[in-house]
Amino acid sequence: MTTEGSGIVAERDALAPRSLTEAELVGWGRRVGAEVPVPCWIALHGPLGAGKSVLARAIARGAGVAQRIPSPSFTLVQRYRSERGFEVYHVDLFRLRPGDAIAPLGWEELLQAPALVLLEWANRAGDQQPEARWEVMLNYGDSPDVREARVRRMGTAPELLAW
Ligand SMILES: Nc1ncnc2c1ncn2[C@@H]1O[C@H](COP(=O)(O)OP(=O)(O)OP(=O)(O)O)[C@@H](O)[C@H]1O
Ligand SMILES: [Mg+2]
Repeated sequence: MTTEGSGIVAERDALAPRSLTEAELVGWGRRVGAEVPVPCWIALHGPLGAGKSVLARAIARGAGVAQRIPSPSFTLVQRYRSERGFEVYHVDLFRLRPGDAIAPLGWEELLQAPALVLLEWANRAGDQQPEARWEVMLNYGDSPDVREARVRRMGTAPELLAW
């Protein structure tokens, strides 16, 4: 596939939207965590309860984070060491208020680390994200047990792994 003039996005730059059960989403996340090269910045979008944390945990588990992975809501940033030998940052900006600075969260470290960054409510970081990133969109689907998932690869981010 090609992007030129056709309006079709190359498979290497976007996965065809797919309706996924939780088990399927977790399975994909585990493979991503196990295989993706770092640095890799994964921006997670979608409404409350869409599955951003489910996916972030699956990716962290796949990377070999063995410890408990609580929701980072109150600390905003949780850092883990993966068995693959890099840092995994799980960030949730839900509680960041408009106008709040993100620099105090150690944002420079996040941007520069050779790490896997899993960022919930990524739109609240505005343009303070690297251009090279994956954009994952999760939305409610036709039944309560599925989510519509889409992913796009931006800039020089690692190649996508098929669902
Ligand atoms: N197909 C699915 N994929 C992911 N989660 C699902 C799916 N079906 C049902 N669920 C349920 O939806 C919930 C998703 O919760 P999760 O905390 O991951 O959402 P979130 O997007 O992180 O929400 P928040 O914005 O509050 O952080 C879980 O309770 C999970 O069991
Ligand atoms: Mg969450």
